[in-house]
Amino acid sequence: MINFRFSCPTEMIFGKDVQLMAGEETKKYGTRVLLHYGSGHIKKSGLYEQVTESLKKAGVDYLELGGVQPNPRLSLIREGIRLCRENGIDFILAVGGGSVIDSAKGIALGAVDNGDVWDFYEGRRKAQKALPVGVVLTIPAAGSESSVGSVVTDMDNANKRAYDDEIIRPKFALMNPELTYTLPPYQTACGAADIMAHIMERYFTRVPHVDLTDRLCEAALKTVIGNVSLVLAKPEDYDARAEIMWTGSIAHNDILSTGRVGDWSSHMIEHELSGINDVAHGAGLAIIFPAWMRYVYRQDISRFAQFAVRVWNIEMDCFDPEKTALAGIDALRSFFKFFGLPVSLAEIGITSEHYERIAGNCRRTNGDAVGNFMPLQSSDIINILKIAQ
Ligand code: NZQ
Ligand code: ZN
Repeated sequence: MINFRFSCPTEMIFGKDVQLMAGEETKKYGTRVLLHYGSGHIKKSGLYEQVTESLKKAGVDYLELGGVQPNPRLSLIREGIRLCRENGIDFILAVGGGSVIDSAKGIALGAVDNGDVWDFYEGRRKAQKALPVGVVLTIPAAGSESSVGSVVTDMDNANKRAYDDEIIRPKFALMNPELTYTLPPYQTACGAADIMAHIMERYFTRVPHVDLTDRLCEAALKTVIGNVSLVLAKPEDYDARAEIMWTGSIAHNDILSTGRVGDWSSHMIEHELSGINDVAHGAGLAIIFPAWMRYVYRQDISRFAQFAVRVWNIEMDCFDPEKTALAGIDALRSFFKFFGLPVSLAEIGITSEHYERIAGNCRRTNGDAVGNFMPLQSSDIINILKIAQ
């Protein structure tokens, strides 16, 4: 286990009706609030009414900016920054999923900075401050409700970039599993794939002796695997929704990274896919993760065999651990496929014509090599894309 420092100051308030506390919690941090949301599901479900009533009841003055699209756009963030500056906004309340929260974080960075907010995402500058952000979560997936990340797409140049900074970690997250009952099955599956990917990025490490976090990762993976079928069969299964929602935050608030170094190359590659064709992040990961695994598993066959045995209940073949390792990778791919996710690049219209661009962008934004489990050169990334084709 390596040295670490861990802190996750986001206050997580979990359970039925917690969205009704939006006003009260917001009031602790701001007096003039930007209410930020997506393309409309919160209006259909009645959540919008509940949140705005709660803000009014708490005496919080607010302004609205809806219209966040999945894979949130830089253009809307620029509009939000302008609104915040012109109206003296001091807090942003994000009501939605990863896209709304990441857009809110982008606005929070730009509202108190004199330069171009895209500089942060391009790695040209580090932010000095940001407006505080709070969250009412409606989809367990990205983990942005308690993460330090924000991922934004510049549609003009088809570039999707991430910026990580402790200063944008949300102050609070209101998490009511009932709010996820309305999720379509495909979004539920995409969310599950993203949660699993966050755990697996951390699980596949070269750091030895990380028993506790291995076991925590395995438990988190098994929790998602076991509960996804329950919620797809019965969307209003509160307990199963709750298990997935809580795992989604644990998966990405860095507790599972303690004492180990994760990989993250599947995420880097996926962000390029979403940048090119706007695919849902979880769907892109369902394609890339099993392909990455097939390419790198020989670096540590015993870790992949452990994944197969402990997560997928596959019997260990002591005479042929490689066979066990491969069976675990197949189990993951079949799981994604069973829940209607794409498992090949062909299914989302990515062809060999895109390979050079994807590999080049991954290398450009991540330095000499991409990932840690097996540092990847451009030729490795292209080989992974070929497996995923
Ligand atoms: O637009 P709205 O109306 O909000 O509808 C959304 C959207 O269409 C809908 N939805 C959300 N909650 C719902 C619902 N529909 C019905 N009922 C509900 N309760 O679902 C669609 C997808 O929403 P989105 O916010 O895009 O999903 P997700 O949470 O998966 O976020 C994906 C984004 O997060 C980024 C991804 O790259 C992607 O851009 N990520 C952010 C991370 C972070 N900040 O730490 C880490 C992740 O690895 C990821 O990269
Ligand atoms: Zn992710």
